[in-house]
Amino acid sequence: MGNKQQNMPDPVRVDNPALEQGVRETAVKLRRMGQDDPLHFWAEMSRDVAWYRDWNKVLDQSEAPFYRWYLGGRLNASYNCVDRHVDGWRRNKAAIIFEGERGDSRVLTYQDLYREVNKLASGLQKLGVKRGDVVTIYMPMIPEAVVAMLACARLGAPHSVVFGGFSSDALRERIRDARSRFVITADGSLRRGKSVPLKQNVDVALQGGSSPVEKVIVTRRTGEAVSMEVGRDIWYEDVLAQGELYCEPEVMDAEDALFILYSSGTTGKPKGILHTTGGYMVGVHTTYKYTFDHREEDIYWCTADIGWITGHSYIVYGPLSNGATTVLYEGSPDYPAQDRFWSIIEKYRVSIFYTAPTAVRLFMKWGEQWPAAHDLSSLRLLGSVGEPINPEVWLWYYKHIGGERCPVMDTWWQTETGMFLVTPLPGDESFVPGAAMRPFPGVDVDVLNEQGEPVKAGEQGYLVVKKPWPAMFRTLYNDPERYLNTYWRQYEGLYLAGDGAKKEADGTIWVIGRIDDVLNVSGHRIGTAEIESVLVEHEAVAEAAVIGKKHEIKGQSVAAFVTLKEGCSGTEELVTELKRLVVSRIGALARPEEIFFSAELPKTRSGKIMRRLLRDIAEGNIIGDTTTLMDPQVITNIKEKYGSMAG
Ligand code: PRX
Repeated sequence: MGNKQQNMPDPVRVDNPALEQGVRETAVKLRRMGQDDPLHFWAEMSRDVAWYRDWNKVLDQSEAPFYRWYLGGRLNASYNCVDRHVDGWRRNKAAIIFEGERGDSRVLTYQDLYREVNKLASGLQKLGVKRGDVVTIYMPMIPEAVVAMLACARLGAPHSVVFGGFSSDALRERIRDARSRFVITADGSLRRGKSVPLKQNVDVALQGGSSPVEKVIVTRRTGEAVSMEVGRDIWYEDVLAQGELYCEPEVMDAEDALFILYSSGTTGKPKGILHTTGGYMVGVHTTYKYTFDHREEDIYWCTADIGWITGHSYIVYGPLSNGATTVLYEGSPDYPAQDRFWSIIEKYRVSIFYTAPTAVRLFMKWGEQWPAAHDLSSLRLLGSVGEPINPEVWLWYYKHIGGERCPVMDTWWQTETGMFLVTPLPGDESFVPGAAMRPFPGVDVDVLNEQGEPVKAGEQGYLVVKKPWPAMFRTLYNDPERYLNTYWRQYEGLYLAGDGAKKEADGTIWVIGRIDDVLNVSGHRIGTAEIESVLVEHEAVAEAAVIGKKHEIKGQSVAAFVTLKEGCSGTEELVTELKRLVVSRIGALARPEEIFFSAELPKTRSGKIMRRLLRDIAEGNIIGDTTTLMDPQVITNIKEKYGSMAG
């Protein structure tokens, strides 16, 4: 700020070390446009996306909150990500730089990507995939996964990507819920030198009657032997071989589905979050372009997995629609050593690096000697996503990775929002470490108290979005009632994000974390109810309450309080069994770190388990309000027993 008082430095602000006049002007212009007339702003932004037919109305609110964007517009997402780049010079530009965990590397130019997407789409079409069919993708982080997503988009067949770390049970549930007739997978995936048997997991998921799946397409990654069921299973390369060189993209309506992505909520059943085509493409294209100050020569690397929304929006659709070069890394950050990420940045001269606070905390723990041993001077911009980033972690990231040269974009958003909603811009003059800063231009958010009034400066409240935004999800697949109840009924007409937040007098927004029964473990969302319903499946378990306990690296870790049935005892073997059960039903990401047996659980008079009191005990906090408990003695007993165990 021009008139900042020299003798009163603000210790919690970091000046933008890379502020450029042009970028500054863009940020100011976009913010002004977005504020003056958000719909005009989003109309203008839509010009960057290629349409077969122009839309005739930006936003239709007649059935709010089932909003519709870019009415009458027609487009295809795969056309936007590949076709429009291959007619000009970009055909020879790297679209995907793939780094395998073993150090193998592959570069796909836009032309290569175009050819493979066309061939796969055509081959899938010959197998019977058509517009409207949901295709499940359960794959490692390899280029074929991106190709599969884009091939589905080309055919107008919504994809449902299931994270490769989910178990076969979780996969089965998602396949069934989406009534998916097609699965695209790989023989296996590589993780820390070991292989995860993806195809075998698919086989298990499809066992038993009534599976809707007709065809399973299998790509080779690990080379391990897999069983192929005649008539059902087919190799990816054979599908490609059958495909034509060109497959006409389906002309999709702006409101036709692009994908479903399952995410955790507050019940045992994951929600199928549905995104459509036009608004999503405009939203991710625009936010990628301006938040990361997209430049043609950038090498961009987002470390998320394509199984999560970050992978969808900011590995695939946002960057590729902009014609960016995106790095895809298959494996883990500590294989073969704890400098793997830094060696990748050095190897490809990555200029934009986008990762999660949980990863940065790990890097801090491993020590600054690892990044220091590599040339990271190619970096010019950093990003963070998935959970709040502690100010000290932000500063470490800024200093040891960014060399105090790179602005850090702390992007707040969700599977539901599809795109960044609260984030700094590279044209901002300064940043507050730990704060997601301000709404993206054209986005309107606020922090409200219980009564729906804006909180006072510095106070905590509920984060809401006040106006619709283009990349918003449209509904929950097959469950519009849950869509209304979860997000829109708390404050009439406003979107309830499920996060607590704080707003400073100058508008700076701090996101504090989830305020519902959803955990955030290493940036992954897991519902407490999902884990609880697995635990109570065990014959020895009467009741279970799961909480997220503060964790130095993961943000939160899973802790379970379990009541056993009469005559059952809480042995070490039972702990192991219960952990194993959770891993097999959901996946390793949900494994409880701690299981604590308790004769009773704290409940309200109406029988609701008070998880927040259990969290207070687990974290050693002062116990919160217990006046609504049916029997306050229960909490005293648990505290004593827990304390003696922990001690
Ligand atoms: O609690 C917020 C947290 O992650 C949740 C969304 O999780 P998911 O849908 O899995 O998407 C993660 C990737 C977008 C939010 O409700 N979250 C995400 N980004 C941030 C964050 N919390 C604080 N700061 C962020 N930048």
